[in-house]
Amino acid sequence: MASEKTFYLETFGCQMNAHDSEKVIGTLHQQGYRQVGNEEDAGLILYNTCSIRDKAEQKVFNRLNDYKKLHKAGKRFGVLGCVAQQEGEKIFERAPYVSLVSGSASYRKLPEMLRRLEAGETRITGLDDRQTDETFETEFAARTNPYRAYITIIEGCDKFCAYCVVPYTRGKERSRGSNSVLDEARRIADQGFTEIQLLGQNVNSYRDPEGKRSFAELLATVGQVEGIRRVRFMTSHPRDFTRDIVDVIDAVPALCDHVHLPVQSGSTKILQAMARDYTVEWYLERIAWIKAARRSISLSTDIIVGFPGETPDDLIQTMDLLAQVEYDCVFGFKYSARPNTPALTMIDSIPETEKASRLQVLLDRQREIQRVNYAKHLGQVMEVMVEGYNPAREQVTGRSSQNKPVNFTCAQPIAPAPGSYVQVKITATHPNSLVGEAV
Ligand code: SAH
Ligand code: SF4
Ligand code: F3S
Repeated sequence: MASEKTFYLETFGCQMNAHDSEKVIGTLHQQGYRQVGNEEDAGLILYNTCSIRDKAEQKVFNRLNDYKKLHKAGKRFGVLGCVAQQEGEKIFERAPYVSLVSGSASYRKLPEMLRRLEAGETRITGLDDRQTDETFETEFAARTNPYRAYITIIEGCDKFCAYCVVPYTRGKERSRGSNSVLDEARRIADQGFTEIQLLGQNVNSYRDPEGKRSFAELLATVGQVEGIRRVRFMTSHPRDFTRDIVDVIDAVPALCDHVHLPVQSGSTKILQAMARDYTVEWYLERIAWIKAARRSISLSTDIIVGFPGETPDDLIQTMDLLAQVEYDCVFGFKYSARPNTPALTMIDSIPETEKASRLQVLLDRQREIQRVNYAKHLGQVMEVMVEGYNPAREQVTGRSSQNKPVNFTCAQPIAPAPGSYVQVKITATHPNSLVGEAV
């Protein structure tokens, strides 16, 4: 390797992966590495990968193929994240120029793995599987988002939904101590961030190992940290969604009025086949709690269409659920068969084209629901946190507390800085965004 240690890192997948990358970057800086913006200039090329659906995994192998030619220049490659954990040493066979394969549960060993890499070792693995109890905590996280700081409060998953790789790629469920979370929240506030996002595959399954605080109590305390104006949390699992979460959103103004509560299907039969461990009625009871809150709490969800055994009638039930809940945002996915998962053995007889058309029907319906939902904001004044500026449209971009994108014009000659808060009057609405002017 060159005398100066440089790295390039590309991230795929979810918010947890994005934040893992921030912690990996911080760790690399500590080890004397400098981050560069392209593969050509880097001595070490890292991919932090995702395997949630087949497409995501293929993307990673395509990238690795693309960069095969770079290998000749004497660079090192490392594969991190969920594909690394899932495929393990098989990656060395498929991409022989890769020297490091590590899942997220082994990142605390990164400094040691880097030293071995520098010493010339070529097949270094960190594959902890479901054994580890440790969480990856570091005070050196490189905060790459200028206005929002992430804190992972719980890692892994013990739920084993029939379709999902996460319990295999992320290891068993383990929470961070609530005092350590709070210390980090205070540090973040001292650095000038005003928005914190608490992360976990199932964030509300949080169990304080110190036994001090419930998830709702942790939300309340983080929401009361001086200087913090917005707290978000992702992703909530219906199974562990308790009523006190709604109470605490009502009580603590810094908690954003938004809950992401993936339902996956509106058919109890399919939910059972998915091993989600709740019925539609049970889910709707949680929705009723949220809707009964004093604040107007925005709802979003994830849905999988085309799970093995899903009939047109099951899809109709999902459409009915959409109409009943009136979500502000829906992430829809075609079922993708994944390695190691129980659903892999079910007969996946729904053709890809049928899955695609089911998804389209669903998203078209949802678009109409959102058109109505978003139109209700016309004329309202709301607080928007600035995220950026779109020079082509001369619009400032940002988000409401409900997590809705708001694009607005501003009379001032200089656009407000990312991270600042502006009162905006809504003058037009779309199914996915609001338009307004600063007041
Ligand atoms: N822990 C969260 C979800 C994490 S994964 C929960 O249980 O709600 C994010 C989303 O990816 C899931 O909600 C699901 O909708 C989707 N997903 C997961 N595995 C999938 C698969 N095999 N095929 C299609 N979508 C999938
Ligand atoms: Fe996957 Fe289910 Fe765990 Fe969510 S709860 S991460 S969908 S196994
Ligand atoms: Fe993907 Fe792993 Fe996240 S599979 S969605 S990167 S937990």
